[in-house]
Amino acid sequence: MTLKHFITVQDFSKEELLDLINLTLLIKEADIQGCTPKLLEGASLAMIFEEPSTRTRVSFEVGMAELGGYALYLKPGEIHLGVRETLADTARVLSRMCDAIFLRALKHETMVEMAKYATVPVINGLTDYNHPTQVVCDVTTMIEHMPENKALEELNVVFVGDATNVLSSVMFICTKLGMNFTHAAPQAYQPSAAWRGIAEANCAESGGTLTITEDVSAAVANADFLYTDLWWWVGQEDEIPERRAAFMPTYQVNMELLSKAPKHCKVMHCLPASRGVEATDEVLDSPQSIIFDQAENRLHAEKGILAWLLYPRMPSPSEALKTYYKGQIEAFLNQM
Ligand code: CP
Repeated sequence: MTLKHFITVQDFSKEELLDLINLTLLIKEADIQGCTPKLLEGASLAMIFEEPSTRTRVSFEVGMAELGGYALYLKPGEIHLGVRETLADTARVLSRMCDAIFLRALKHETMVEMAKYATVPVINGLTDYNHPTQVVCDVTTMIEHMPENKALEELNVVFVGDATNVLSSVMFICTKLGMNFTHAAPQAYQPSAAWRGIAEANCAESGGTLTITEDVSAAVANADFLYTDLWWWVGQEDEIPERRAAFMPTYQVNMELLSKAPKHCKVMHCLPASRGVEATDEVLDSPQSIIFDQAENRLHAEKGILAWLLYPRMPSPSEALKTYYKGQIEAFLNQM
């Protein structure tokens, strides 16, 4: 069986991504009915975190348990990753013991290296480049909150703020799926030429559109979804005054900016949010905000991703074979 990792949405076709999103919606429906199937009975997921996490950690850990599997939380500094042991050896060892490896890495190169040496699926739980599991949840949430009479390909998704790792993944998945994606930010905080090139190539294939602009008022005028993210992250503390000056007040998602968008426009944020910085409390807690539906959907999307990657790899021995081995092992133990 071909080994499938989940490192970037760019590795998948529009059809594959839509299959994954539809699987997520079906798994959510089953969950609401209390009927989540134990698709991954006995499977294990090694979860390595080089950075803290609330949503990603909890959603993968609970998701594995709900599917009948088990997740091991390996916190920063707890294993020999790249210290006293090469990353390649860690990948090889974990592949012998676990059915999949999850990694939240500081550097995207670490993710690529892990995937190079792992012989089980590797799942990217955020790097400095992208956040692909987040955006499966995001598009699922958009589908649940789509304006009436609009198709997915007609949606206008507007991302306001810094060109973060989340921006790259939202931009890539929206353009892959043929949606209209706009990024509004000061020029210095707009995506690199490389990122734009990927999104433009997606649009050429899917029929989607890409707009990068400094004009935030024009950008939000037709927004169905208005998405924002943090203006700075760990390691960018020295840049806070300069970043705040660049974004505030023009690019803050506040009631004044939201009033320039259509009334049906929904506000999204991957969270954690710096309330009062990139978005105000008034907006984040408004009826137009779907940030907690979005957060909940992390759980359903992770189950979709886990089932999609791991279910086809699950062994399916016959009942007779299981009975044979149980009998053999019990007989051995009983004669010891
Ligand atoms: N959105 C997200 O990845 O949140 P965590 O950092 O809490 O996992």
